[in-house]
Amino acid sequence: MTQTMKAVRLHRYGEPEVLVYEDAPRPDPQAGELLIRVHAAGVNPVDWKTRSGRGVASRLPENPFPIIVGWDVSGVVEAVGEAVTGFKVGDAVYGMVRFPHLGSAYAEYVTAPAAHVAAKPRTLDHLHAAALPLAALTAWQSLIEAVNLAAGQRILIHAAAGGVGHLAVQLAKWKGAEVIGTGSGSSETFLRDLGVDHFINYQTTRFEEVAREVDVVFDPLAGETRECSWQVLKKGGVLVSILRDLSAETAAAYGVQAKYVFVDPHAAQLAEIAALVDAGQLRPVIDAVFPLQDAAEAHRRGQQGHTHGKMVLQVVG
Ligand SMILES: NC(=O)c1ccc[n+]([C@@H]2O[C@H](COP(=O)([O-])OP(=O)(O)OC[C@H]3O[C@@H](n4cnc5c(N)ncnc54)[C@H](OP(=O)(O)O)[C@@H]3O)[C@@H](O)[C@H]2O)c1
Repeated sequence: MTQTMKAVRLHRYGEPEVLVYEDAPRPDPQAGELLIRVHAAGVNPVDWKTRSGRGVASRLPENPFPIIVGWDVSGVVEAVGEAVTGFKVGDAVYGMVRFPHLGSAYAEYVTAPAAHVAAKPRTLDHLHAAALPLAALTAWQSLIEAVNLAAGQRILIHAAAGGVGHLAVQLAKWKGAEVIGTGSGSSETFLRDLGVDHFINYQTTRFEEVAREVDVVFDPLAGETRECSWQVLKKGGVLVSILRDLSAETAAAYGVQAKYVFVDPHAAQLAEIAALVDAGQLRPVIDAVFPLQDAAEAHRRGQQGHTHGKMVLQVVG
């Protein structure tokens, strides 16, 4: 097997131009790890935040370069490290690798702790499978784990057309909740097709004037959206956020709960998500596919903040 591979690396933090497609050493799997031939790598906002020195950059050593960003992969097991059970060479797998440490997914090969991957949903190709892990785990850990969303509850999902939002909408519908989704006018058809019961166009309508007695608010936006969200909750309701700076004092003043979720790798949840996909209950939607070498283009598009579903880098094929 070749000792080098193509990867998109950065040698300093900065604008999308710092992403360089070049040769890099192929990693070797350690005990408990798999070597995965990456077929597709999902793109998430934390990728461009980290590229610019934010995101999880503060968790990395002071001068970590060169580094490879990206956490979501779908691919095929190429080699199995010592003490790994349950996987063999040739298995199709998907996962969110090592988050919030470096995952190094923008590459032809990646090593992954076996506990961070699961069998790829069999009804999806690698491009669609790579769109799932980080966003789907975030939606799962927010709505199922943190909030335990129940049938008949009313949930307001902000940025419902985004990478996390479009999966949160589907998980909420699967749970039997009544779903209110916010988005711009360009997201309306997309969100109605996903099954939202009520659509609010944030460009023309203040959501806090029409949403009432909500059991759960899912907040991937923070800022003014969060400030206006407290008032739409029922007493005892929950605001679950995936961005920081949740105020316990504000929550208490409104008589509601505030929960913050920071996504964790979780193979068992990935397996449940794959089963849901294969049962036809959940489908990742791809906004755009870019070849690996055009990762910078994907970042430019994503940073505009108006993608519908997910962007994916194609590594094989
Ligand atoms: N804590 C964690 O573990 C965790 C995990 C995943 C993500 N995150 C964070 O969560 C955020 C969302 O992630 P993502 O992957 O879903 O992002 P994304 O895919 O880039 O979100 C884009 C979507 O946001 C919508 N949007 C933008 N402004 C809006 C507004 N004012 N009201 C309603 N919708 C609006 C856009 O809809 P329109 O085109 O219709 O405007 C677009 O569909 C990011 O900041 C990410 O870093 C945190």
